[in-house]
Amino acid sequence: MRSINSITDLSVEELDELVHVAEDIIARPQYYAHKMEGKKLATLFFEPSTRTRLSFEAAMYELGGHVIGFSEANSSSAAKGESVADTVRTISCYADIIAMRHPKEGAPLVASMNATVPVINAGDGGHNHPTQTLADLLTIHRERGRFENLVVGVCGDLKFGRTVHSLIEAMSRYEGVRFVMVSPEELKVPSYVKQHLKVRNMPYTQTTDLLSVMPELDILYMTRVQKERFFNEDDYVRLKDSYILVPEKLETAKKDLIIMHPLPRVNEISVAIDTDPRACYFKQVLNGKYMRMALMLKLLEVA
Ligand code: NCD
Repeated sequence: MRSINSITDLSVEELDELVHVAEDIIARPQYYAHKMEGKKLATLFFEPSTRTRLSFEAAMYELGGHVIGFSEANSSSAAKGESVADTVRTISCYADIIAMRHPKEGAPLVASMNATVPVINAGDGGHNHPTQTLADLLTIHRERGRFENLVVGVCGDLKFGRTVHSLIEAMSRYEGVRFVMVSPEELKVPSYVKQHLKVRNMPYTQTTDLLSVMPELDILYMTRVQKERFFNEDDYVRLKDSYILVPEKLETAKKDLIIMHPLPRVNEISVAIDTDPRACYFKQVLNGKYMRMALMLKLLEVA
């Protein structure tokens, strides 16, 4: 039995395999339509979610399985003070696999140590979000055909943005990748993420100026300033609109740039960009469902 807490819990070979299976699901969905018959997914969401929870649920339904769960902490016994450990011990009696989102960093790891079924981290605080990265990887693969030799720009809230942390961890395993990190001074990537890059000898630059680096980028990954992780409303208000992507800012961008965002967007990408063929954020949404299907098949060892 195997849980996924971080994207590095999957080897590069396994990521390739998941991309391959997701492509096969896209090509012949009927073949997979009954694979999970009799299986149940539990979605335990202690934090708000639209895409992650509903794509997990849609993924399980499209594989012929069933879904139970809750979408807010207040509707579970967490509101009565139950621990994560006891909650997942309980849910293990009812479900074959668990997807958990929690505001506390490490909560899904604690869950995986106490559950008797696989636990998938669906976002833990400002830490990690491995299944968003799976969606991102399939998108990069479908749009660019490779993971190697790409300049990856990440922009916005790099401090609290868990999707960025997982994406950097994943992409730093490929040859010839270079990171350009664009953020306000206060929202730079945490030192453990930079440490990860140093250990792997991956080149990166940090800047506050998106326009000056735009021409270099193959990927531009925009993120929302994570309001819910701020201690101080004034800081959020001051930083929230640091980067707003509008069509004029793309004038110097590559013609084959891909523009990504894990969503939800607040103000970071103007809707005028949605019709630009380089905009890939709604493709990520769909790709997330296929990769979650592939991941659940793998963890439950369904051939
Ligand atoms: C992200 C998250 O929850 O971290 N959303 C998602 O799962 N697609 C990004 C965000 O909330 O900004």
